[in-house]
Amino acid sequence: MAEEIIVIGAGGFGRETLDVIAAINAAAPEPVWHVLGVVDDAPAEIQAERLRDREIRLLGGVDASRALFERAYYVVGIGAPDTRARIAERVEAWGARPATLLHPAATIGTRVTISAGSVVCGGVQISTNVRLGRHTHINPAAIVGHDSTLSDFVSVNPGAIISGEVAVGGGALVGAGAIVLQGLAIGAGAIVGAGACVTKTVEPGTVVVGIPARAKEKHS
Ligand SMILES: CC(C)(COP(=O)(O)OP(=O)(O)OC[C@H]1O[C@@H](n2cnc3c(N)ncnc32)[C@H](O)[C@@H]1OP(=O)(O)O)[C@@H](O)C(=O)NCCC(=O)NCCS
Repeated sequence: MAEEIIVIGAGGFGRETLDVIAAINAAAPEPVWHVLGVVDDAPAEIQAERLRDREIRLLGGVDASRALFERAYYVVGIGAPDTRARIAERVEAWGARPATLLHPAATIGTRVTISAGSVVCGGVQISTNVRLGRHTHINPAAIVGHDSTLSDFVSVNPGAIISGEVAVGGGALVGAGAIVLQGLAIGAGAIVGAGACVTKTVEPGTVVVGIPARAKEKHS
């Protein structure tokens, strides 16, 4: 019997998460997941239209869907780590159960731990002895090197490369195509800009960009 699942977030990553679910179902002898629909507090009309186009139901806002969260699994398909954390903590307080979704075209090494709520997309490569915390998002074609640890609510955007022995703090985001060199730490809540090359430890809560990555000046 397929398990019921709700995807939170009608935006781009929410719909990519639906694709991951579809790929998991297609690769299994029997469907693993039955998608009840998408929950979103304020979906843009264009996103609602994109869901209608693929015949996915928009179920309404998070609070209005509480009864569904009490019976179905859920996954937060929202790229921004802080928003994802806020919503996951809200529904987990109701006892909702997070699903862990691994695209069948992701390559996962040995001794890898992936915690509940995480989404690993197609084309991802995760090396050996890697730990992913709760609700991590590893976007298409990202690479996570050996012996790295990603804490809860980390996002690794498309094509980013986390080298070996890297520690990424909770809620940090590594932008598309960025490279983090081996052995470094990315502090909690930090943002590594798209295309950056990180050569030094990144302090918590800071934004770094460029090659080599440097703290981004704050604009007034
Ligand atoms: C670094 C980042 C967080 C900055 O966001 P922001 O504060 O909104 O930045 P802005 O777009 O206002 O740009 C401010 C300045 O930073 C520069 N800048 C923005 N992102 C940059 C990046 N990744 N590398 C270098 N410079 C960057 C802009 O060119 C601009 O420069 P200027 O003031 O000289 O014109 C963001 O641009 C980024 O790279 N996020 C990751 C996005 C990503 O991975 N997207 C893929 C999603 S699937």
